[in-house]
Parts: sequence; C-alpha cells; structure tokens
Amino acid sequence: MIQNTISGFSKLSKTKKIDWLLNTCFDNNDTAKKVVTQYWNSDEKLQKLHDEFIENTITNFYLPLGVAPNFLVNENLYTIPMAIEESSVVAAASKAAKFWFERGGFKAEVISTTKIGQVHFTFSGSKTDLQSYFKTIKPQLISDAYHITKNMNRRGGGILDIELRDKTEELDNYYQLHATFETLDAMGANFINSCLEQFAETFKAHAKTHKVTNVNIVMSILSNYVPQCLVRAEVRCKITDLKDKDIPDPITFAENFKQAVSIAEVEPHRAVTHNKGIMNGIDAVVLATGNDFRAVEAGVHAYAAKDGKYSSLTHCNIDNDIFCFWLEIPLAVGTVGGLTSLHPLVKFALQMLGNPSAKDLMKIVAVAGLAQNFAALKSLTTSGIQQGHMKMHLMNILNQFKANDEEKKALITYFKTNTVTHSAVVEAIEKLRS
Ligand code: MEV
Repeated sequence: MIQNTISGFSKLSKTKKIDWLLNTCFDNNDTAKKVVTQYWNSDEKLQKLHDEFIENTITNFYLPLGVAPNFLVNENLYTIPMAIEESSVVAAASKAAKFWFERGGFKAEVISTTKIGQVHFTFSGSKTDLQSYFKTIKPQLISDAYHITKNMNRRGGGILDIELRDKTEELDNYYQLHATFETLDAMGANFINSCLEQFAETFKAHAKTHKVTNVNIVMSILSNYVPQCLVRAEVRCKITDLKDKDIPDPITFAENFKQAVSIAEVEPHRAVTHNKGIMNGIDAVVLATGNDFRAVEAGVHAYAAKDGKYSSLTHCNIDNDIFCFWLEIPLAVGTVGGLTSLHPLVKFALQMLGNPSAKDLMKIVAVAGLAQNFAALKSLTTSGIQQGHMKMHLMNILNQFKANDEEKKALITYFKTNTVTHSAVVEAIEKLRS
C-alpha cells in the first residue's frame, strides 16, 4: 500500500487522527474503528491519563496482568504481579514459587546500586592540559549541578564521582566524563541525564579559559549498562529434598539440571533461549511495576556477554549433596517517579508488593527471573516443555475457534488426560460440534 505523508499529525484531535488512519490504512473502516474504540476506557479522566502518556495515542493496548502467589523471599511472602501475554509464564512462576516455598524459599541480596552516565566529547589538544583542566573544574561540575541534586542529596543519594576517561586508543580524540550516581528509590534516568547535561555545559563553558580550546561535546546520556547495580537471587536445598511428583529421582534430576545450566554457560545459542526464559519472569514484573523493560533487557543481555561471550545468567552448583541455583543480574528499577504514581495499575502492583524500596523490587524481580528459569529447566529436563506449554496454550486455540463456555469446559476436561497439539484440539472441537 502506498501512503501519503502527513504533516502536523500530532496536532490533530484523537478522532481526526483515527479518521486519517482508517482512511489511509484500512479498507473496512467500520470494523477497524470498532476495534480501536472498544478499548477506550469509559472513565474519561482515566482515558485522558493514558492518552497523555505518549504522543498520538489512539487507544489502549491490553496485556493480561496475572499474579503469582507463594513467593517466599528472605522470609517475606509475596504475591508477584506479572504483565505478560505468553500463556505459560505465570503458571510456571507460580509452580516454582510453591516448589521453593516448601524448600525454604528464595534468598536475594542487592550487591550494589551504582548507576552510570557519560558525557562523550572529542578533544584534539594536549592531554596534560585536559587532565589538569578536569582536576580544576571537577568540584564546579558537581556544585553547578546542585540545583538538580539537592533533593537527592538530602535523601542520601546524588553524584558519587566523575572521572575523565581517555578513550583515544579506541577512537581518535574521544574522551568521556564518566559519572557514577546513587539514585535511591528512583530509576534515575531523568536525574542522571539532567546532571550530565549540566556537567557538559559547565565543562564546555570554562574550557577555553584553561587553555583547552576545542572541546566538542558529542552527547550526554546515562548508560543502561549498570554492572555495578547488581542483585543476586538464590535457591538451595539438599538434593534429596528436590523429590516431588515430577522428580522421582532427585539425584539424576539435579545432575541433568546442572548439565542444562552448564550447556547455557558455554553455548551461546542455548544461552540466548535460556536467558529469554529468565526475561519472561523479569520483564513481566518490570512491566507490571511500571519500569523500563527495554533498559533492563539491554543491560541484562550486555551483562550476559561481559566476559566476551554471551553466556547464562544463572549458575548451578552441587556441593556436599546440596543443590544451589542462582542468578546475578544488573537491574536499574525504581519505585518512585516515572509511571509509579501515575498509572493506577502500577500503583496497585506496587501496593500488592507492600510498596517496596527499589532495592526490594530488585530482589523480587531477580527472584521472578530465577523462578522462571527453574521452572523452564525443570520441564525441559523432565517431561519436555511442550506438555505444559500446550496445556496453557489450549485456551488460545479454543478462543481461536470461538469455543463457547460449555465447549471449553468439555475440552479442558478431555485434554487433562490427552496430549494437547493444535491438530488434536481442532479434531476434538470438530468432533464435539458434529
Ligand atoms: C519460552 O518462552 C522460554 C523457554 O524457551 C526458556 C528455555 O528454553 O529455557 C522455555
């Protein structure tokens, strides 16, 4: 389809935007209009709130919000909110939570909370002059940013340090002001970026008077790679205690499980899928709590490749008949600022977790990732993944075929004892309807 460009689109009213869209991209305007408008919230105030989160909002995009109960984390019991479309994720998390609840629960600790931002600049003059200028200007970089940092300072956070980094061996004339921050319960993106832009302004403004004549500021931006904002989550128990109805032979299970983790540690193709399963849990909680899942994704995957080869984020150890399984990831999340007090469901999700601090949320998110990986590896190394996946996917197939409540009830019962495949479900529906 060839479309005409449009200028001033963002200035049109919502109705006009939809009209343009329907006329431009759809043959059947009525059906498309119905789809778009049926997701509008009848509460106009609430709808306006959502409209104003982004530009050019035309409607709301629903994802299910599920909950996974029975998560025992450092002796505290949580029901974890998860926003996700994949049918088996919440069920798997809940199963893993129950499994580990009966075996002492999860332990989690925040190792560090330092965040990073950089002013990237080029300079072609004397390195000694630059270094001496940086030494002189550093206190002013911090004091000029005081109007941005004063509230954060009062609460115990703020700028931790600023370093001048020489990157000229990697790229001609390239230097950085590499700054570290403590942003407490805020994810801190806006705080860090505002500080960085102020550093850049101060740095540039006084350079000439210190013989540093051709500083060119390229950009000022936080880094989503936060290897010093780390959290660790762990489960451990005696191997014999792993026994349950799906694990009749816990020794073989533990060995196979450990082998599955080792494979993900050495084989990037497997590591990516293995870590994707971890992110099923992590993203779902990050999203439900109004955090930036793209930032978390980018940072976590960079961390998985920190040793030069993409590898597993979880590890497993068997020592003295004790099975230990853990995850270590960087996580920049916040429980204040951003959407946290604006989006009613985010507020609700945080309340469900007892209004955690950012540190507590880091622990909860890491635990959800570990639980997800445990559930996936448990299935993969025992029954295979499809049994559970297809059971959860059954409802999607039934909905695809517009099964009514009675048909759903009958087919769910039937598939409790029969293997779910797409064709088996189609066959069963046809048989039921004939
Ligand atoms: C599917 O969303 C996630 C898994 O593929 C993860 C894994 O293979 O470990 C089951």
